[in-house]
Amino acid sequence: MLGRVNHIAIAVPDLEAATAVYRDTLGARVSQAQALPEHGVTVVFVELDNTKVELLEPLGDNSPIAAFLAKTPSGGMHHICYEVADILAARDQLKASGARVLGDGEPKIGAHGKPVLFLHPKDFSGTLVELEQI
Ligand code: CO
Repeated sequence: MLGRVNHIAIAVPDLEAATAVYRDTLGARVSQAQALPEHGVTVVFVELDNTKVELLEPLGDNSPIAAFLAKTPSGGMHHICYEVADILAARDQLKASGARVLGDGEPKIGAHGKPVLFLHPKDFSGTLVELEQI
């Protein structure tokens, strides 16, 4: 079911500071910050040869990462995103095996314009999992 790791998302309290660490200390290629109000985050993409790291800072009052940062104020790994070829087939297979799909179970259009679903962290070793159809 799983393809490549599409991205690893890290929630950060200070996007500028986190970006500087990746760019200046680690020497990585980083994007400009992009505000995504419909997703409640501002994001910087760290471009690596084999995947991306997304640095996420809360944006607006109902940011989906606000509660996470309240619990982990210095930031932390928020989710890992795996690519799948058929998101509906993946969802149905996961549900049949007892995994919990978050929300209403219908794919939404994610930050990259592709259908995504999120899976309950308690079913995946404490890690929020995003599936993205590629
Ligand atoms: Co993501």
